[in-house]
Amino acid sequence: MPGAGNADGYRWERYLADFHAERPAVTERLLGLSDGRPYSWLAEPLCPSPGPVLDLGCGSAPTRAELPAVRWVGVDASGSELACAAAAGRRPLVRADAAALPLADRSVAAVCAAMSLQVLTPLDTVLREVERVLRPGGTMAALVPASPFPPTRGLLGWARVLYSLRTPRLSWPNPQACEGAARLLRSRGWTVLSDERRVLRLSVSDPDRASLLVRALYLPDTGAGRLEAAERALASWARPGRLLPLPLRRVVARLPEAP
Ligand SMILES: C[S@@+](CC[C@H](N)C(=O)[O-])C[C@H]1O[C@@H](n2cnc3c(N)ncnc32)[C@H](O)[C@@H]1O
Repeated sequence: MPGAGNADGYRWERYLADFHAERPAVTERLLGLSDGRPYSWLAEPLCPSPGPVLDLGCGSAPTRAELPAVRWVGVDASGSELACAAAAGRRPLVRADAAALPLADRSVAAVCAAMSLQVLTPLDTVLREVERVLRPGGTMAALVPASPFPPTRGLLGWARVLYSLRTPRLSWPNPQACEGAARLLRSRGWTVLSDERRVLRLSVSDPDRASLLVRALYLPDTGAGRLEAAERALASWARPGRLLPLPLRRVVARLPEAP
């Protein structure tokens, strides 16, 4: 399994740090191209919680606005992401590694993980930290990329995107936390309350949106020249009405009560 402490984990760690330093808020901007409200969907099961809610890998903290009445704290390793969150008035924020959370045992009532479980490494350590800081019986809601199956309208558009990038597929450090997130949590003793799939439609209506799409993808093996070429290729493909499906999965799970 990729994670800090092995070469692949280290490579991802460096890549993610540079990626988010150069492109803060890019995930929020990408999901903002969609017709859905993915952050509202994610936050919904946490709204009844009095908090505190820990937003794990909060980035620019888009979920903060979805949980206005809840005590909330955002944690992220990227100073640039947190600066974007702070500029939008989304606080309190803590710069820290998800694998070493600066929070007391059993100090949060819920955890919100928006598009982050698939990138937080080493995942086993991160989940142990979540299980340490979350109160027994506490809830975690996680939003992760889902499998393209069953296929949906517009899926062939991804073939065009991937061809432009000369890459066979998208990848993440923790692929097991995408489609298999519910299975992963169950295997650790969590009770899965729901595991739902929703397909967003990203609007790629003009060259700027095509460029944002290319810049928002994790492509550790793709050089700057290829990214620019893909942006140019997709600029001519973008047009009003062009929609690219983005399948996501929302998993809501409960940590067991203390024995
Ligand atoms: C895909 S972005 C999601 C950001 C935000 N939750 C959103 O939905 O817009 C993943 C985030 O995880 C953060 N991250 C990656 N590795 C981390 C780590 N080890 N500890 C804390 N944050 C980390 C990145 O800085 C980035 O902000």
